[in-house]
Amino acid sequence: MDIVVAPDAMAACREAAARIAAYMRGTPEPVLGLATGRTMEAIYHVLVGMHRNGLSFARCRSFNLDEYYPIAPDDPRSYHAYMRERLFRHVDIAPERTRVPDGAAPDPERECRAYEDAIRAAGGIGLQLLGIGLTGHIGFNEPPSDFATRTRLVELDETTRRQNAEMFDDRWQDVPRRALTMGVGTILDARRLLMVATGAAKARIVRDALDGPVTPMVSASALRQHPACTVILDEEAAGLLRSGG
Ligand code: F6R
Repeated sequence: MDIVVAPDAMAACREAAARIAAYMRGTPEPVLGLATGRTMEAIYHVLVGMHRNGLSFARCRSFNLDEYYPIAPDDPRSYHAYMRERLFRHVDIAPERTRVPDGAAPDPERECRAYEDAIRAAGGIGLQLLGIGLTGHIGFNEPPSDFATRTRLVELDETTRRQNAEMFDDRWQDVPRRALTMGVGTILDARRLLMVATGAAKARIVRDALDGPVTPMVSASALRQHPACTVILDEEAAGLLRSGG
């Protein structure tokens, strides 16, 4: 695992965006695994700027990690809406080349199987972008999540619902209780992983994930089993690491 510590959050996000752009430029048919959440906002902002300076997304396909369930794709609080607003509508990627789990699917299990099939049909994910939740989740794989799990319907921890309350008028009880998420096994199948964490609030869980035991109780610790994983942190998020990053 490669750990990069940037001086601040913006520098960490610029570094992440540069690596995503390098992957896109160096790959004939890039397949991006995308994430949502606050950390990713600056990364998408930088990528949109790069697009305005010539970076094309036209050859990309994308698969997002997760979506609340149930939620309509046109609900402004959905991750469909997040992706449209923060990235897709600003760049040259055709909507049919982007996929986010369907939070309105009448049969969630079938949707999860179809999602796995679609990733396989695209040739697998080349670069998977990840954040980390306060519970140690990647995607919405709350503890305990077996490292072999595939895309599935999960229950969200109260900690996660509180973490994500902002989009729901700060009423954590209104954050859906469930979500569709790629499994830890689905994530580990990506050829390269890029996890980004910024801010002091993430320092404890970053330490648990990178310096603690590799355990299903901290999903992000699974990344240490991946042969090509880079973690980009700012100094605050790296603050409790044994190695100091
Ligand atoms: C979102 C996702 C989550 C977030 C994590 C961090 O698609 O998969 O794992 O990356 O909850 O969220 P922020 O960046 O809001 O702290």
